[in-house]
Amino acid sequence: MPSSQVLVVLFLVVGGTALAQDAAPTPVAGEAALGSQPYDQFEPDSFCAECHVDIAAQHAQSMMSQSYTHAWDEIEYFELALPHSQKEPKVAGVREGCNGCHAPLAFLAGDIPPPRPSEGSRANEGVSCDLCHSIVGFEGEVPFNFNYIVDPSDVEQGVRGGTDNMGHDVQANPFLHTSEFCGTCHNEKDPWGLWVKATHLEWQESPQAKAGIICQDCHMPPAAGNSAPDMGGEDRADIRQHLFHGAHDAAKLAGSVEVRLHARQVEVKPGSEVVMVATVVNAKAGHMIPTGSAEERVVWLHVEAEDAKGGRHHLRVDRKGFEGESYTIASTEALAYHDIGDIQEIEAFPGLSRDGDVPDGDRIFRLPYLDPQGRMTVAQWNTAAFGPDYRLAPLQARNETFTWQLPKDVPVGAVEVTATVWYSKLVSSVAEFLGVPPEESEAVMVSQHSTVFTVK
Ligand code: HEC
Ligand code: HEC
Ligand code: HEC
Ligand code: HEC
Ligand code: HEC
Repeated sequence: MPSSQVLVVLFLVVGGTALAQDAAPTPVAGEAALGSQPYDQFEPDSFCAECHVDIAAQHAQSMMSQSYTHAWDEIEYFELALPHSQKEPKVAGVREGCNGCHAPLAFLAGDIPPPRPSEGSRANEGVSCDLCHSIVGFEGEVPFNFNYIVDPSDVEQGVRGGTDNMGHDVQANPFLHTSEFCGTCHNEKDPWGLWVKATHLEWQESPQAKAGIICQDCHMPPAAGNSAPDMGGEDRADIRQHLFHGAHDAAKLAGSVEVRLHARQVEVKPGSEVVMVATVVNAKAGHMIPTGSAEERVVWLHVEAEDAKGGRHHLRVDRKGFEGESYTIASTEALAYHDIGDIQEIEAFPGLSRDGDVPDGDRIFRLPYLDPQGRMTVAQWNTAAFGPDYRLAPLQARNETFTWQLPKDVPVGAVEVTATVWYSKLVSSVAEFLGVPPEESEAVMVSQHSTVFTVK
């Protein structure tokens, strides 16, 4: 029995009055909201889609409408988090907790664990229209761990308010036009008290935040149109587009990290040394790259040269010497993710390749998540410490050098050197091991630049 029901029963028995039965449920937030709102308090997206045609089609393509049904989410919850919650008391709360953000209707209904996606329950609706448009605020000082307050009713929370429309009433609620609204799910604190997802906290520190640019400005940009054409909507100059595109959209990733490359020496002799300098900059995001599910993402810089006769040479990044740097340089030897073996009870599990398909010696921009034994993990709920944060901060550049001792027999002529930034949503070794669909781990090109020096 969910604790809220226990409380109601206690109240009835101890207080000896039936008053509580008539009172409308007071909205509660976070873990306390478990089981507080039956499914039928929320309209399905198909209802809203009758009038809000374009917004509904946009949202249906976004990851938030697939936050429960998407294959990798199903695998991670049912094959790692749920079994782990049953054997390790420290992480027992994730059985419910994952759903507070990924299957909020199931969480609020107390339908835990939710039925598998194939069963077609209302858990599948994920972060739905009526869920977001029933959020009235959040509890406490910092938005995190689904501490949004939902008050579902026939009134939709909006930002304009006072609209004379035929669909439903609207409550003007400035909260929807804040980054804190998004932060209720885009910040996550794990059982060790670590910020294992901190997109909103990162944004707070960003130049964009200081300039008043919020999440909605980049992920829901305004366009002229009508949000409910033929159904009483008005033509407006600034309808918020429900794109919510992120790392799952190659076009959103394209150019989000820029790279420029130059050689310090423009004319060199065979056998001498040439230093290539790559400047990378997070030019487009109002938070770290990678952000959010940083435990899974691999963003790396690959530098390759082609000599005058077409011979190819892979250049390894120079070490800078900071603590924990080895986590940021790809190694085909390094192993990690041993906790998958612990959770799945695999005898003598050796771990999986830490960096998957990333070529040896490439620079990786990452934040290593470390399990209680100090091994790298993709289980953000099992994270007891972090390695060095070597991600790319908004509107900041970083230089990486590649010192290359030219072979004595390198052909004279032009050498073209190319730097490429790649992005993989999930480290390929984990994807292969767990049978996650290949598009989740494919390498997506973010940006590329080439330069030339001459061997004389
Ligand atoms: C019968 C048609 C209809 C249905 C169904 C409908 N809406 Fe609306 N809605 C409208 C109209 C018309 C407007 C006014 C648009 C305008 O102001 O131009 C509107 C406005 C809104 C606004 C903007 C409010 C503001 O002032 O900022 C929100 C948010 C909204 N609807 C959400 C929803 C959600 C969520 C659902 C499903 C639970 C839904 N609507 C279902 C017709 C409908
Ligand atoms: C992740 C939360 C979220 C989801 C899911 C969501 N919305 Fe919204 N919606 C918002 C926010 C936030 C705004 C206001 C953005 C702003 O003005 O900064 C908004 C604005 C709107 C507006 C007003 C648009 C305008 O500019 O006049 C309508 C209408 C609307 N939503 C309908 C829907 C419908 C229909 C769905 C489902 C198909 C939906 N929303 C799904 C968060 C959400
Ligand atoms: C109720 C919780 C909740 C709220 C509120 C919420 N999100 Fe999300 N969001 C999620 C979840 C869960 C996912 C992950 C979906 C998945 O499984 O891939 C997600 C995914 C996303 C993605 C896609 C990331 C990718 O990998 O492509 C973007 C972009 C995003 N959200 C932006 C926003 C913005 C902007 C807001 C505020 C207007 C917001 N979200 C509010 C829960 C939420
Ligand atoms: C200045 C524009 C800008 C702002 C402001 C911004 N974002 Fe982003 N966001 C981006 C870009 C560009 C990307 C694609 C690069 C990437 O995936 O890291 C992105 C990616 C994302 C992703 C996908 C990351 C991943 O690893 O899957 C999420 C989730 C997200 N943003 C949420 C938010 C939230 C929540 C806020 C507000 C707290 C916000 N963004 C503010 C531009 C912005
Ligand atoms: C506080 C809200 C929250 C909680 C709790 C939460 N998640 Fe998430 N999850 C998100 C958001 C937001 C994203 C998208 C982040 C991004 O793309 O940057 C996400 C992304 C993911 C992804 C990656 C999706 C992808 O396609 O790359 C998986 C898998 C996932 N979560 C599983 C889980 C599991 C399992 C749990 C419980 C142990 C959990 N999540 C708990 C909010 C949450």
